[in-house]
Amino acid sequence: MEVLREVDELCEWRDGRRIGAGRLGFVPTMGNLHAGHLALIDHARRRAESVIVSLFVNPLQFEDAADLARYPRTEQDDLEQLERAGVAAVFVPTEAELYPNGQQGLVRVDAGPLGERLEGAARPGHFTGVATVVSKLFNLVRPDVAVFGEKDAQQVAVIRRLITDLDFPVELAIEPTHRESDGLAISSRNRFLDEGQRQRAPAVYRALTRAAESLAGGHTVAATLAGARHWLAQQGFEVDYLAYVDDRRFEERDRLVEHGRLVVAARLGEVRLIDNLSVVGAGPGRPSASGESDR
Ligand code: PAJ
Repeated sequence: MEVLREVDELCEWRDGRRIGAGRLGFVPTMGNLHAGHLALIDHARRRAESVIVSLFVNPLQFEDAADLARYPRTEQDDLEQLERAGVAAVFVPTEAELYPNGQQGLVRVDAGPLGERLEGAARPGHFTGVATVVSKLFNLVRPDVAVFGEKDAQQVAVIRRLITDLDFPVELAIEPTHRESDGLAISSRNRFLDEGQRQRAPAVYRALTRAAESLAGGHTVAATLAGARHWLAQQGFEVDYLAYVDDRRFEERDRLVEHGRLVVAARLGEVRLIDNLSVVGAGPGRPSASGESDR
């Protein structure tokens, strides 16, 4: 496995891949790798002959300095996991390497109104930071296919628009959310939960599955959401948002729609958990919960 730390090394590696070396798959990450990331890498291996992963905690997408400072950095362990996973190369730039002119005055990729709703409203500038770094990485890596996790459904929507609106010649692949056995979506932030919070955390996914059942039972979107918010609050959560949206535009919908999705962000103390579940209108009045539809 090649460990590439400089942009020049990455470009040399990319250009040195012989013609006929097959498709290149790319999995961008911020490191602190877990089973969800490894599933994205497996997905990339099924779609491409060789896989490159990036490890970079992107300061541009953190609106809160304390959140950036405490983001777990576990490079040595990450590199060992990537070696075992059989990836061809890993790109591990420093901040100065990727943003040599600093953040001041940086030309950014605006994520548009899609980036300002829900998760974007809670975290101003976050999706512009994501769109900017992913654009840079696409330009540097030039992958044939890039894999993202359904866990961050609004991020997927932003990347989908980024690829079509800016004509990146990249195929988007989506891996379903990987969960602990009790339903909690695997996340680098789970390590910040204390024992009591960890026991309560699966309620986030439970709220989504209960809401999906409520919709399947014919309850309205408004009544279902009100019930789910109330239930989560009773479990000790502060609910940032719990909404039913069209997952291409992230606009709220009051009836079941083709690309419908329940999305939630809720806090247990200092820890903010996000999750989502696809719930689409399937024929007259018949909702169904399912995975991402364009895999
Ligand atoms: P990070 O949070 O490290 O996530 C990297 C990728 O792993 C993302 O596509 C994310 O959706 C996916 N992922 C995380 N947890 C998952 C889970 N439990 N199941 C399935 N996929 C999961 O997302 C980012 O980094 C950054 O925003 C990035 C795209 C790298 C840009 O900086």
